[in-house]
Amino acid sequence: MNRMMNVAVVGATGAVGVEMIKTLERRNFPVRKLTLLASARSVGKTLKFKGEDIPVQELKKDSFKGIDIALFSAGSSISKEYAPIAAKDGCVVVDNSSAFRMDDNVPLVVPEINAADVKLHKGIIANPNCTTAITLMALYPLHKAFFVKRIFASSYQAVSGTGAKAIGELRRQVKQIVNGEPVTVEVYPYQIAFNVLPHIDVFLPNGYTKEEMKMENEGRKIMHHPSFKASVTCVRVPVYRSHSIAVSAECEKPVTAEMAREVLSKAPGLDVVDDTANKRYPMPLFTSEKDNCEVGRIRKDCAFDNGICFWVSGDQLLKGAALNAVQIAEELLKI
Ligand code: A2P
Repeated sequence: MNRMMNVAVVGATGAVGVEMIKTLERRNFPVRKLTLLASARSVGKTLKFKGEDIPVQELKKDSFKGIDIALFSAGSSISKEYAPIAAKDGCVVVDNSSAFRMDDNVPLVVPEINAADVKLHKGIIANPNCTTAITLMALYPLHKAFFVKRIFASSYQAVSGTGAKAIGELRRQVKQIVNGEPVTVEVYPYQIAFNVLPHIDVFLPNGYTKEEMKMENEGRKIMHHPSFKASVTCVRVPVYRSHSIAVSAECEKPVTAEMAREVLSKAPGLDVVDDTANKRYPMPLFTSEKDNCEVGRIRKDCAFDNGICFWVSGDQLLKGAALNAVQIAEELLKI
């Protein structure tokens, strides 16, 4: 498939869509023609790609004729409706929503972990949940070396993971509080400014949220590790960009902090930032707009045998979404 591609971005005006456009440009993806698709509300807008103003078009059933690759990030219902139409038109869809992730006919890919799965696609490839992708960037290398049986984790997730409206909500609430005005709530169930919400996605009968169960379900599929177990608490924090995850992993094989650090220092797409004597550890402020994820606070877990703790932070709009999608598209070029 190595030639110039006609590429479409579905949800081009959204928080992830805008990053997809920038990532295609920054990585010099071989784009012959870029088609930008969003709702009818965005018709009339233009977005820049390689210095050119490209008009946003309304997403329609016939939008995919002549398109080779479509990067979708307009939510699950749009993906469910339009991804099969695009695939039928001969286009390969890289879908950022949760619509097809657990479908047996759809590969779920983090290229640093299971790039070969891209070859199994039947027209749709799924991009994983952002928190899962960022966690696995550090967890998978440890799993390969020490066999991870289970993890306990808590996430600290930025508002941009919810989309452009949530970024606006945090900005507005901070201003309202500073100005002594009443706080208005539109996107989240409660005020997010100066608060944390232990509630991301819908609650399930087992008491976890859907977001929390993605780590185990998607983690099993991506790592090809059917017995992997994950108990996760996902928390929304008043951070604009980059998710962080505190992880305790129990391994089959003995592991020390030094052994883990050695393994992680060689992992692709990951930087070890772990020098506590000099107050160096990963933080969302410093991983934002950065391709690589960062891992630090690496230490032997004191609560179980063969346990290792770490703190990983990564830009969820990039590795958790747009960058991973473009990397999948790059893998498609190699087929
Ligand atoms: P629009 O800006 O026209 O509403 P975010 O995740 O930041 O909220 O962005 C969601 C993206 O999905 C936006 O680009 C949005 O376009 C797009 N979108 C939402 N609803 C539709 C729809 N019915 N048809 C096409 N695109 C949609």
